[in-house]
Amino acid sequence: SVKRKLVVGNWKMHGSHAANAELLQGVLSAQPFGCDVAVCVPFPYLSEVAVTLAKGPLAWGAQDVSAHEQGAYTGEVSAAMLAEFGCRYVLVGHSERRAYHGETDQIVADKAKAALARGLTPVVCVGETLAQREAGETASVVKRQLSAVVHALTHCIGEIVVAYEPVWAIGTGRTASPEQAQEVHALLRAQLAAATPQAAQMRLLYGGSVKPDNAAILFGQPDIDGGLIGGAALKAADFVAIARAAG
Ligand code: G3H
Repeated sequence: SVKRKLVVGNWKMHGSHAANAELLQGVLSAQPFGCDVAVCVPFPYLSEVAVTLAKGPLAWGAQDVSAHEQGAYTGEVSAAMLAEFGCRYVLVGHSERRAYHGETDQIVADKAKAALARGLTPVVCVGETLAQREAGETASVVKRQLSAVVHALTHCIGEIVVAYEPVWAIGTGRTASPEQAQEVHALLRAQLAAATPQAAQMRLLYGGSVKPDNAAILFGQPDIDGGLIGGAALKAADFVAIARAAG
């Protein structure tokens, strides 16, 4: 495939002025990369990250976005605001948002739509829990999650990035096997292909305990076009090694 892989670091609720500066300097000193690289950071740090990364090859983004344009939504951040800070990406529907903040498939779809309307690329996260996998529901769960987004976006669906993150693999050190991940990615690709001629060019990321020692084999699968990296994105050496494994 000629498309470049994409490696996105999700810092989650980690960081400080000092830690961010050290981490980004460590990553920047390792450039250039043979893949696209981005970091999704906590809202308060977007401004400084935008300054630090302004002239380099790394993109940046946020970890959530409001489904609403503007208004009386205390604590929410709009896509227009993220665009003002130079964000290229925004995570949407991360399993932690779905589990702890009640985000439904419809809310996730509305957020993806709001992001695209302001020129941001939503990284739409899908994935099954351990109970769902053990009940044989993996395919139906991820299909339902993606389907809501496909229906909300219709002709724009080709503009999104999809991240498959089995919930049981997030932060657990228990990664999906390359075969397990590829199997779900192939299903997602087929679902997208039924909705857009751009499906083959779309980037489908795998997330869940990606580390320097398992990244290459995961990224070597035919339908895995990069990764969404949590814990390993907080250490420059690990994040750089994962980006190198992507090309
Ligand atoms: O968004 C990233 C994922 O939740 C993966 O996190 O790499 O710490 O397992 P992890």
